[in-house]
Amino acid sequence: MWTKETLKELISDKLKDNLFIVASNREPYIHKFKADKITCFRPASGVVTALDPILQTCNGIWVAHGSGDADRKVVDFKNRVRVPCNDPNPKYTLRRIWINKAEEIGYYYGFSNEALWPLCHIVYAKPKFRESDWNHYKQINQRFADAILEEADGKDAFIFLQDYHLTLVPKMIKQVNPKAKIALFWHIPWPNPEVFRICPWKKEIIEGLLAADLLGFHIHYHVDNFLETVNHTLEAKVDKAGSSVVYQGIETSVRPYPISIDYDSIEKEAASKEVQNDIKKVKEELGITSEIVGIGTDRIDYTKGITEKFKAIDHFLETYPEYQGKFVFIQIGSLSRIHLDTYKKLNDEINGLVERINWKYSSDNWSPIIFIRKYFTPTQLLAIYRMADICLISSLHDGMNLVAKEFVAAASEKKGMLVLSQFTGAARELTEAITFNPFKPEDCASAIKSALSLPAKERKEKMQKMKAVIKENNIYRWSTKIINALLRLS
Ligand code: F6P
Repeated sequence: MWTKETLKELISDKLKDNLFIVASNREPYIHKFKADKITCFRPASGVVTALDPILQTCNGIWVAHGSGDADRKVVDFKNRVRVPCNDPNPKYTLRRIWINKAEEIGYYYGFSNEALWPLCHIVYAKPKFRESDWNHYKQINQRFADAILEEADGKDAFIFLQDYHLTLVPKMIKQVNPKAKIALFWHIPWPNPEVFRICPWKKEIIEGLLAADLLGFHIHYHVDNFLETVNHTLEAKVDKAGSSVVYQGIETSVRPYPISIDYDSIEKEAASKEVQNDIKKVKEELGITSEIVGIGTDRIDYTKGITEKFKAIDHFLETYPEYQGKFVFIQIGSLSRIHLDTYKKLNDEINGLVERINWKYSSDNWSPIIFIRKYFTPTQLLAIYRMADICLISSLHDGMNLVAKEFVAAASEKKGMLVLSQFTGAARELTEAITFNPFKPEDCASAIKSALSLPAKERKEKMQKMKAVIKENNIYRWSTKIINALLRLS
């Protein structure tokens, strides 16, 4: 089994004096002012969910954009703060880098989220390529590279970069320190070469990535797409059988590593008394009296298929009227990238849709959809998972989707079934889930019906099988495999 302890051993045996530096755009802890007080919270991000337990285990350094309005107030003169922030014994160092508004518009909102994000998620949103965004993107990637090099301070370091915000960083680091050992994990899908070829800076992006020693994707399909894209873009030696690329004398291994969660700790906490107490409190707070509860929790993003999910719930209630008055769906939505028009419009569309569906079906004491934008603590979230008969994940395209795994880990043996879009990375591993095509509301509606009608024994067996898959392939296995691969390569 792969545990916190086995990871700790690997790190102290093999990494020895090497520093372990992680970098991502999103920081794992954000400080914000709330009624003149500084509060600290963890953002909704798969990257954070997966990497925070690892950093807590290995006392590394995490370099990220300081995006909270109180972030500058709590750092030292080197822009560092120890985290987790509410822990009396903080476990690792967060090094913040600063980005001004114009840079954020170009690098984060623009090139990362209006160009690369729609380019890589096949949901038919057109990417926007602006020269000025690209220039900011290059500039901020350089800032990340400089901060990482400063943290490494000439010592041997394992540098573990995250995601599409930092594609140029491997090359920028290697230019200064060719001996640095670099892995980059791509948390979103990688499209096929036909799709990627429209990117005006495809060559620079691929060259930036190929300076890493190791590139990780969630699934084989994305690895194959990446290798094909390299073949179409550069004069490089692509070895499909060996899953590697040699470009300008540097070899890069390209491998699938399906990301996961800290299964044991989620399972344990979900069964705790605190969570049990929170179930009652949350039910009261949300006014839930219905017998059957469905839940969903997503960042409000057009790739998550939230409007498609609500249309499917409408269809479900129309097709199976016996569930009217009995079934309630709780959707938690965390606001995201709200300065972009597409996201603002999506929010408005969701509001309108919830109102229309609730108006269509509601009675004096029942409405089918409860849509909440409020922040829930991790314990409250587990309580919500635990009270659910189904968890409905309707992403139109998703690299992995860790909510699916968290739900399975948290659900009790007696209750709960996962209803999962077939276009998530998670659907490849959790083959016992009830899967559906989110582009077809009828398909999703009948998946909900099937999940709710499963005989108890079959439901339990399916959940047990999925639990076993995630327990085995947990986050410690993911990180151990990546660290081992990096060690082998160096
Ligand atoms: O997993 C993809 C991802 O874009 C992460 O990189 C990111 O932290 C998360 O989704 C949430 O998005 P954002 O950081 O833009 O709020």
